[in-house]
Amino acid sequence: MVTTPTLTLIVAALVPRLGIGHQGGLPWKLKQEMKYFRQVTSQASKPGHSNAVIMGRKTWESIPTKFRPLPNRINVILTRTGTDALQGADGAALVAHSIDDALLQLQGKLVDKIFIIGGAEIYNSVIKDARTTRVLLTEVHAEGAVEMDTFLDFPWFNEENAGWARAPRTALQSYIGPEIVLPEQDISEGSFVYNYSLFERQE
Ligand SMILES: NC(=O)c1ccc[n+]([C@@H]2O[C@H](COP(=O)([O-])OP(=O)(O)OC[C@H]3O[C@@H](n4cnc5c(N)ncnc54)[C@H](OP(=O)(O)O)[C@@H]3O)[C@@H](O)[C@H]2O)c1
Repeated sequence: MVTTPTLTLIVAALVPRLGIGHQGGLPWKLKQEMKYFRQVTSQASKPGHSNAVIMGRKTWESIPTKFRPLPNRINVILTRTGTDALQGADGAALVAHSIDDALLQLQGKLVDKIFIIGGAEIYNSVIKDARTTRVLLTEVHAEGAVEMDTFLDFPWFNEENAGWARAPRTALQSYIGPEIVLPEQDISEGSFVYNYSLFERQE
């Protein structure tokens, strides 16, 4: 039986404005959040399978060369134009020209979860795709102003009954798996305080 894959967005955003980036990079360095991202996106629940991470070309380029491709995950880069340059430079990632193309290239591979890992252009289009059923959102709060120039366009986040709902913590734990321990309290790093949430598309 062929099943339609579901997509999960994973993103850290300053709430409530949902800022996610500054000058091509992240507006913060949150070590535990990076560990959570690595664990959640790496941990496949089916034996012998890997998860896939799909990202825009600019997000790929924002990852330092020595850290890419992201290990233990199938990396897919979305670009409308840059196939030759990307393949020539890196080779270790799939290059796709649309989400459908990415999913087509993943067909036939032993893929468990498929994560969309940014950036803004990709998040803001894929959130409208009915195959996107979950958003793993790290809700970041800051003391004082944070410089940001890149934002999520998720109007439902600040509205009620807009097609998405916050899931209970048990649902988040069940989705990420028992190996990953959720913090009992908000995490504090420098001037930032954050915690992990799951939002689910409503039928
Ligand atoms: N806070 C977080 O969790 C988080 C996570 C990830 C990224 N970010 C931040 O987000 C920012 C980058 O976001 P961004 O919007 O500038 O760039 P992006 O979404 O990473 O990449 C945009 C590029 O992706 C390609 N693309 C977009 N839509 C496509 C489609 N439908 N089909 C094929 N290719 C497509 C195009 O590449 P070509 O130009 O090559 O055609 C486009 O220029 C950075 O500041 C980064 O640090 C934050």
